[in-house]
Amino acid sequence: MSHHLCIRRAGLVAPKLQHRSSYQTSRTPALITLSIRNHTQQATQKSSWTHPVYTQEQILSVRVAHKNANSLPDKLALGTVRFLRWSMDLVTGYRSSAAGLSRTNAMTEKKWITRFIFLESVAGVPGMVAGMLRHLKSLRQMKRDYGWIETLLEEAYNERMHLLTFLNLTEPSRSMRLMVLGSQCVFFSGFSIAYLLSPRICHRFVGYLEEEAVITYSKAIQDLDSGLLPKWENLQAPPMAIKYWDMPEGRRCMRSLLLYVRADEAKHRDVNHTLGGLDQDVDKNPFSAKFREQVGRVEGVVGERVKV
Ligand SMILES: [Fe+2]
Ligand SMILES: [Fe+2]
Repeated sequence: MSHHLCIRRAGLVAPKLQHRSSYQTSRTPALITLSIRNHTQQATQKSSWTHPVYTQEQILSVRVAHKNANSLPDKLALGTVRFLRWSMDLVTGYRSSAAGLSRTNAMTEKKWITRFIFLESVAGVPGMVAGMLRHLKSLRQMKRDYGWIETLLEEAYNERMHLLTFLNLTEPSRSMRLMVLGSQCVFFSGFSIAYLLSPRICHRFVGYLEEEAVITYSKAIQDLDSGLLPKWENLQAPPMAIKYWDMPEGRRCMRSLLLYVRADEAKHRDVNHTLGGLDQDVDKNPFSAKFREQVGRVEGVVGERVKV
């Protein structure tokens, strides 16, 4: 049976195209062109990972929290995060507004965005590495993964959406791009090796990293509320953010955007602290839609609440 006949029987014959797609070349068959165009249209309508819609109550209930590091591996994870936090403060020129700084040293809108971009460019790595390594392990060992991969890849996608959102608000400098490139080379390699050696410590490490992310966004919100960031007071969230988080009318300002991003970070924190406490080989992912019912409610992930 010829290829053309197969297509006709499957009812996939393309109607005559009225316009040339930007993807079309002189050698592109019409059917492929239509398929690409339909796919592109769908892609602009809906993302592959639709973000769950947060209620106002949910985004306002997020608190800074810390899980105590009791074991040696937990202390190692926490120590590494604290070192990275110190390095990032240096790179992004971060100064806490609580330190009684002069106006010239205080965090400005530009400095906050620089910090967010650097933070998000790093935060998008662990989920992708962990998801990829678990995927390869599943293939290699010919065993099921029990729902971990989807959560990890979704986290990486979510972090990239944070990055892309903030890129709508500034143009990163060449030195910033260079720093992101350098840190990605080091962090991707280091995290990959660490995850192969001890995925459990790595999830704990990400849990602590996300604790820091919640602190960062909480402090930015605090600065905004204190009138230290006047340019953001009437700034609207970028359209892609409004669409991604399904931000309701009247709650599409910069403050709301920070609340949405912070809620995501709190979720990553709780997810990774939970995954860090599970048996990496046999436990089911309690956050997977498929296994949530079987595993039951996830409770008491993060111990004490801490004030910013
Ligand atoms: Fe993020
Ligand atoms: Fe995060």
